[in-house]
Parts: sequence; C-alpha cells; structure tokens
Amino acid sequence: MTNKDNNFIVRSAGFEDAEAIFELIKSYPEELIARPMSDIVENIDRFVICITDSKVVGTVSWQILPEIGAPKQPSVEIKSLAVHKDHQSSGIGKTLVNAAIDHIKTLHPAQIIALTFHPEFYTKLGFEVIPKETLIHKIYMGCKNCSKYDSPFTCPEVAVAMKIQK
Ligand SMILES: CC(C)(COP(=O)(O)OP(=O)(O)OC[C@H]1O[C@@H](n2cnc3c(N)ncnc32)[C@H](O)[C@@H]1OP(=O)(O)O)[C@@H](O)C(=O)NCCC(=O)NCCS
Repeated sequence: MTNKDNNFIVRSAGFEDAEAIFELIKSYPEELIARPMSDIVENIDRFVICITDSKVVGTVSWQILPEIGAPKQPSVEIKSLAVHKDHQSSGIGKTLVNAAIDHIKTLHPAQIIALTFHPEFYTKLGFEVIPKETLIHKIYMGCKNCSKYDSPFTCPEVAVAMKIQK
C-alpha cells in the first residue's frame, strides 16, 4: 500500500526488517511492552511496517488470543504499534492499524481488541471503549509479567474493541 500524498509505503514485514522493528519498539519503553528479537522473528508474519526513504518508520503487530476448545469469541489483539517520533502526525499510525485490520479480518474473528494509553486514536478508527474485565484472555497473556502495575485494573491502559460483523 502506498500513500502518495505522504510518500510512505506500508507493507508486510520480512525477516530483513526484524532489527529495525526491534529498535522501534524498544524506543517506546513507557508505552510498549518490549519484544525480544526472537519473538519478533518468530512472529514476523504478523507485522506490518511503514517505510519512507528506505527506512522503517512505523510498525504494528497482532496476536490471536487463546480460546478453550472450538473458538466461540475469537479475538485478535493489535499490539506493538509504533511510529518514529520524527514521522508522527502524518497518518502513518492510522494507515498501519487499517492495514493490520485488513489482515486480521481475513481470519474472521469476532472482534479486534487493543489495550492503549491513547483510546481516542482507536475510537477515531471505529473502535469502542470496553470494560477491561471482558478481556481476561488478554490480561492473562499480556499482563501477567508486567512489573509496572500490581494489577491490570490499576494500570491506566484502556481496552478498546472493534466488533467484526459475520
Ligand atoms: C500513537 C501513535 C501510534 C500515533 O501515530 P501517528 O502516525 O502519529 O498517528 P496518525 O497521524 O495516523 O493519527 C491518526 C489520527 O489519530 C489522532 N491521534 C494521533 N495520536 C493520538 C494520540 N496520542 N491520542 C489521540 N489521538 C491521536 C490524530 O490526531 C489523527 O486524527 P485525525 O484522523 O482526526 O487527523 C504514535 O504517536 C506513536 O507511535 N506513539 C508512541 C508509541 C505508542 O504510544 N504506541 C501505542 C499506541 S496505542
């Protein structure tokens, strides 16, 4: 996908992008959970990146949340969204999330979710704020190793979801 107005390209990541993705996520330690290089490489098919002037300036990823038995409410989380400081406010974040949504929709999930410090960014894209308590899977997967907050319910991150019509 190319945005001609802003001169950037959004495409699926390849192995050659792993180092740049690693550095970009690491540059936001307050906002994002760091991801080891091995995790990025093993999940490289779940990353989309934005390139401008041959440099990776944005990335986003997604993860399927676990279900017990046959999937009743399959949910996919958008995570590791980062746009380089010098390239923010140019529509890159929005384009990356929309590209991730397009990929995720091919799986026919019931919903796409995110935990975010910037809920307005997501509500502008069609997500709605939901109670965190409805995301027990996510809390188990992502929050159990958090050392910043004693409980997901004291963490200021907000849960948002986009329901997908069947
Ligand atoms: C949050 C982030 C991804 C936004 O990326 P971006 O490329 O600057 O955002 P865009 O230019 O695509 O903005 C799209 C829309 O969201 C709005 N927006 C952008 N950042 C926002 C924020 N922090 N809070 C609320 N709204 C925001 C913009 O005003 C714009 O609105 P418009 O469509 O009405 O003009 C980027 O600031 C970032 O990487 N932050 C640090 C890492 C981080 O916080 N990651 C988690 C994000 S949930």
